[in-house]
Amino acid sequence: MKVILGPASTQLGQKVAELLKAETVPVTSKTFPDGESYVRLESKVQDEEVVIVQTTSPPQDPKLIQLALLADAAKRNGAKKVWAIVPYLAYARQDKSFLEGEAISIETVANILKVAGVDRLTAVNVHQEKTLARFPFPANTVSAIPLLAEHFKRKGLEKPFVLAPDKGALHLGEQAEKVLRGGCGYLDKQRDRHTGQVHTEKKTLDVKGKTVIIFDDIISTGSTIVAAAKILRELEAKKIYVACVHPLLIGDAEKRIIDTGVEEIVGTDSVSSHVSKVSLAPLIAKELVQ
Ligand code: R5P
Repeated sequence: MKVILGPASTQLGQKVAELLKAETVPVTSKTFPDGESYVRLESKVQDEEVVIVQTTSPPQDPKLIQLALLADAAKRNGAKKVWAIVPYLAYARQDKSFLEGEAISIETVANILKVAGVDRLTAVNVHQEKTLARFPFPANTVSAIPLLAEHFKRKGLEKPFVLAPDKGALHLGEQAEKVLRGGCGYLDKQRDRHTGQVHTEKKTLDVKGKTVIIFDDIISTGSTIVAAAKILRELEAKKIYVACVHPLLIGDAEKRIIDTGVEEIVGTDSVSSHVSKVSLAPLIAKELVQ
């Protein structure tokens, strides 16, 4: 197995290859003056099973095109099988038509990757696992939540309460609770499909005087976490931490979250950011050897 170092995840790809003791395939990439993407594989892949490690965090579109071009280049140059490791799978939140006239974006993305040459795909904490069942090739998701929870355990936080900021994140909270053992709860959140505004209901939670960690898959604008942190403040939580797999942190999201009194945001290297304190490399390497 050779690991193709996608330009969006070069360091993560290197770490995965080191753990697997696998050869890497460096990639030259550039953007032409008109904005088009270019990639070139810098070593041979003939008759190899290859893995492409390439996240598709913002800016999503050029990274998706790079991934498709890399799959095409691998197949054209004789690779037997292409396994795409896509830590942050872009467009996964548009997994149905919420409003009349919309596309199902994630299905379009999957079809593009299939045509390009992808035979199999693994994502990390994809927004809805059931989406992957409709992909035109085998696709699965692995969870980085236990790794994030272990990070907080190592920090010595004493049985923190785990909060899911909406019901959809409850399964993530439950995974974290299995490691942290301090109880778990969730909030009820609604999002206006037209404005994107978030409304979270305040409810009774046993968090007074406790350390709480909010676990979510994605932080985008930060509105979900800000709403949850404000409620925790009102409920007199002692300290609030935030853990997320994909720290997109668009615009001033980080500042807005920290301004609510959150101690720290911890993310993974699914998205390269200064809050990416937990590496996905062991999780991905384990998946590749199964
Ligand atoms: C949605 O349900 C996701 O799990 C996240 O809660 C959401 O994508 C976060 O978005 P934002 O940071 O913009 O509130």
